[in-house]
Amino acid sequence: MLTLGVNIDHIATIRQARRTVEPNPVAAAILAELGGANGITTHLREDRRHIQEMDVRLLRKTVRTHLNLEMAPTDEMIVIALDIKPDYVTLVPEKREEVTTEGGLDIVRNYYRLKEIVAHLQSADIPVSLFIDAQENQIQASADIKAQFIELHTGKYADAPNARIRERELEFLRQGCEQALDLGLRINAGHGLTYWNIYPITCLPGIEELNIGHTIVSRAVLVGMERAVREMKLAMRGEF
Ligand code: PXP
Repeated sequence: MLTLGVNIDHIATIRQARRTVEPNPVAAAILAELGGANGITTHLREDRRHIQEMDVRLLRKTVRTHLNLEMAPTDEMIVIALDIKPDYVTLVPEKREEVTTEGGLDIVRNYYRLKEIVAHLQSADIPVSLFIDAQENQIQASADIKAQFIELHTGKYADAPNARIRERELEFLRQGCEQALDLGLRINAGHGLTYWNIYPITCLPGIEELNIGHTIVSRAVLVGMERAVREMKLAMRGEF
């Protein structure tokens, strides 16, 4: 069964815009689970621009599905992951200047360091997924360093400027899935997926979970707007 991991980071982005207490990403995770999310995904960034360490600790206590912690492969984050023990970790590259995670991890270039980190997390019973582009050498290297999962980066597919390039990117993803399956890797995918571009991705072979954030949070804000305004009108009458 193809499952959905809901990334709740941008609930925290809205909260951090005012450095206040609402909206609460933990409440959003509970509601996402009520809506059928099979997992909750969250990225604790080095610059703490949205999710804070306390959020991850609370999510660990409240999430009833599974908690996927996205993090950069840094010493600081490894200590936090070993302490919080998410259900699995997805290692992602991180640059301070980027708006969101831009490319996949370069496993080939950082082979020995990543191999050591994967083994370290796995020795604490934390399965590891590697967020990578669907490139043959990166997929092979992910299997060689014995990660259990890869997460294929769907950003280039999502951002394709036209149908021809979108088809080509979809084909790279399909080939990546086939190679990963042959190597015994489990496959997740995500980044940039929306209500409009998701369906072809669900038809790729072997994908277990899609991690989706921005489009769901965006839609939640809009579909909730009418009710939120109606409730403010009630509050103005002292009736909320
Ligand atoms: N997967 C990974 C590894 C990510 O870094 C992100 C963005 O945080 C996502 C999935 C979700 O991407 P989006 O917010 O575009 O759905």
